[in-house]
Amino acid sequence: MRCRVCRQPAVIDIRRHNANFCTEHFLKLCRDQVAKAIGEFDMIDPSDRVLVAVSGGKDSLALWDLLLDLGYQVDGLYLGLGIGDYSHASRDHARAFAQQRQAKLVEVDLPTDYGYDIPTGAKAARRVPCSACGLSKRHLFDRAALEGGYDVVATGHNLDDEAAVLFGNVLRWHTEYLGRQLPVLPAANGFPRKVKPLVRLGEREMAAYCVMRGIDYIVEECPMAVGNKHLGYKDALNAIEVTSPGSKHDFYFGFLSRAAERFRSQATAEQAELHPCPSCGAPTTADTCAFCRLVVRAGGQAPVPVQLSTGPR
Ligand code: AMP
Ligand code: FES
Ligand code: ZN
Ligand code: ZN
Repeated sequence: MRCRVCRQPAVIDIRRHNANFCTEHFLKLCRDQVAKAIGEFDMIDPSDRVLVAVSGGKDSLALWDLLLDLGYQVDGLYLGLGIGDYSHASRDHARAFAQQRQAKLVEVDLPTDYGYDIPTGAKAARRVPCSACGLSKRHLFDRAALEGGYDVVATGHNLDDEAAVLFGNVLRWHTEYLGRQLPVLPAANGFPRKVKPLVRLGEREMAAYCVMRGIDYIVEECPMAVGNKHLGYKDALNAIEVTSPGSKHDFYFGFLSRAAERFRSQATAEQAELHPCPSCGAPTTADTCAFCRLVVRAGGQAPVPVQLSTGPR
């Protein structure tokens, strides 16, 4: 097995590219794929201040590393979700990376700052944990970006994540979600721009990237995600990928180029109904936003209105 670029012994094969790579050229491929996604979808301008949401897992730490190496101005954001030892361990990985790279890590802690944790919040709101968790994360990403004066929030969603979410949305024909399932959502109605620069790279590549770069990430999955539907969709897509390499890529990128536009009108109609939540100021289509309702039900402290930053600190 030889590297496609330099013909030296290869350390990894990527079947959907039908190629093998040595360490140096694999790391270059990852940087090139991220740069390509950023350029292709106009995700980040070199003058932007970027906030990368880091969970301590392989994808988000690799993304932070890649964005730093590509020369972007990027700080990290870690949210403590109060999921016992898992949260402590993931926070320690995020902190260790920040220290190693001399990068700034912003931290928000749900139990300390909002008075509830994901297991209690999910139970109180009768939601599955991942739903209460996703809702809280989206709200807190937006808020931290607006308060810190960041132009864009980047998350570590990779090709496997996006293909699995797309698969679920198509399986159930959630057309309202299909209109918003894009690698970049522009800033609008008080939401900061959101980008997913890892959409051209898969889970296996991100794990290999971290190993080759010596990035120590939390290998354990979130204990609350066990049995989650998306894990089943990932397994199904992986089974297809084995016999037909490139299927995941074609499924997701084919959707973006040939189908996403057809679902846009429904997402745009929803955008027009947005107004600020009377309690926290975040945009919502309901009377009070879903985050504020969740916090109240979970017995936490109602969030104060967002304090917009007046510029870079
Ligand atoms: P998940 O929803 O757990 O698959 O995570 C998707 C992305 O959300 C990750 O790649 C991170 O960018 C971000 N993320 C997840 N958990 C956290 C967390 N506790 N703090 C900050 N960002 C997170
Ligand atoms: Fe959100 Fe596990 S990280 S439920
Ligand atoms: Zn090589
Ligand atoms: Zn609110």
